[in-house]
Amino acid sequence: MDICILGTGYVGLATGACLADIGNNVICADIDEGKIMHLNNGRIPIYEPGLEDLIRKNQGNNKITFTTDIHKAIHNSKIVFIAVGTPPDKDGSADLTFVLQAARDIAASLNDYKIIVAKSTVPVGTTNKIKEIITQNKKNDISFSIVSNPEFLKEGSAIKDIFEGDRIIIGAEDPKAIELMKKLYEPLNIPIHVTDIVSAELIKYASNAFLATKISFINEIANICEKVGADVVEVAKGMGMDKRIGLDFLKAGIGYGGSCFPKDVKAIAATARQHGYKFRIIEAVMEVNQIQRERITEKILALIDTIEKPTVGLLGLAFKPNTDDLREAPSLYVIEKLIEKGITVKAYDPIANEKAKEIFPQIEYCQNAYDACKDADVLSIITDWEEFASLDLNKVRSLMKTPAIVDARNIFEPEQITGMGFNYVSVGR
Ligand SMILES: NC(=O)c1ccc[n+]([C@@H]2O[C@H](COP(=O)([O-])OP(=O)(O)OC[C@H]3O[C@@H](n4cnc5c(N)ncnc54)[C@H](O)[C@@H]3O)[C@@H](O)[C@H]2O)c1
Repeated sequence: MDICILGTGYVGLATGACLADIGNNVICADIDEGKIMHLNNGRIPIYEPGLEDLIRKNQGNNKITFTTDIHKAIHNSKIVFIAVGTPPDKDGSADLTFVLQAARDIAASLNDYKIIVAKSTVPVGTTNKIKEIITQNKKNDISFSIVSNPEFLKEGSAIKDIFEGDRIIIGAEDPKAIELMKKLYEPLNIPIHVTDIVSAELIKYASNAFLATKISFINEIANICEKVGADVVEVAKGMGMDKRIGLDFLKAGIGYGGSCFPKDVKAIAATARQHGYKFRIIEAVMEVNQIQRERITEKILALIDTIEKPTVGLLGLAFKPNTDDLREAPSLYVIEKLIEKGITVKAYDPIANEKAKEIFPQIEYCQNAYDACKDADVLSIITDWEEFASLDLNKVRSLMKTPAIVDARNIFEPEQITGMGFNYVSVGR
């Protein structure tokens, strides 16, 4: 099928690459000229495992192309995906500027029957608003169908998640559109749930809100563990063995971050408020998440309380491993607080150093994890990149000024590490 994807970010690019790989002709269109220029020159603007190979392969056989010519891209396509950003507005609700602009672009370029697919995460009612805008602004009586098809990929495993997702949600009313969408996704062999548009939109927010709740829940349990002397890793294991609960998202740590959970959780709370309802659980989830990053920062500060001109080494900056995404990353809060107190910060992230430099040019960025340990009074693990778990801890201890670790991701074994002479503080253990 001929497909156009408006918005070439994490979702648009990964979706485009995968749809091209299963045989479709995909045009990725974006208003960001720099991004498109890089993509046309073979440079992938984001880090995502497997993405570069997939794009190279399909660029080579012309299955995927990149353009800033939005009009032409829509013109040449049967299915138009909207995958533009929906950042949070000041009041927490989703800012729909980009989505509504995309709808106007589609209206201006509608030249034959098309299926318009809202893939961006949009509040309940937005897909129908897109339909209204296209209907009001199109310059002919050509028909179109509208579909809500929210995306569930996770950064860091986007390609795998698209090819091996748990479900595909199709919210639509038009049987023709439903059939075509089913046909498009057929090669992936993933269960498809067809529902109405409003329910499809809410499925996305409810899913992210539930996962964020699991994270805040286990962090609360971790804080109780610290009070009563239990071990949250053991507690989570025991809880997760119950199939009704499951182990996923039961890892205590510094709380959730990234471009999705914080904004989607805020947005569903805002949607509820706009409809005169207080979503009490989710309000508490947000509060717990904020407190968790504060608690970690306090743990770091407590270890350097008596040290004059202390240095803190931070391992990991991205909001999670295998991505360079720093949006709403807990590291940003920690760094800001340390800078405020005039503390020297040395940081290392396998991929996100360059992006972090744009936000905090004033701290030192290291070439590897050991450089970040050098002369540090405290080392804090902020992101659980796999390479940190296999560090040579004897080397780490010998490089540090004071052997103290705040492990915000519980990657080390407390007994082993304290046995090596570290002052070790983790989460809920
Ligand atoms: N990132 C994720 O992990 C993830 C997962 C699931 C769903 N989502 C949702 O998918 C949507 C996109 O997220 P993202 O992380 O890919 O965003 P992003 O910010 O990485 O990319 C959005 C892109 O859209 C482009 N754009 C804006 N207006 C445009 C227009 N009128 N025409 C063409 N391009 C335009 C921007 O230049 C940018 O390149 C959001 O609603 C997000 O909530 C994201």
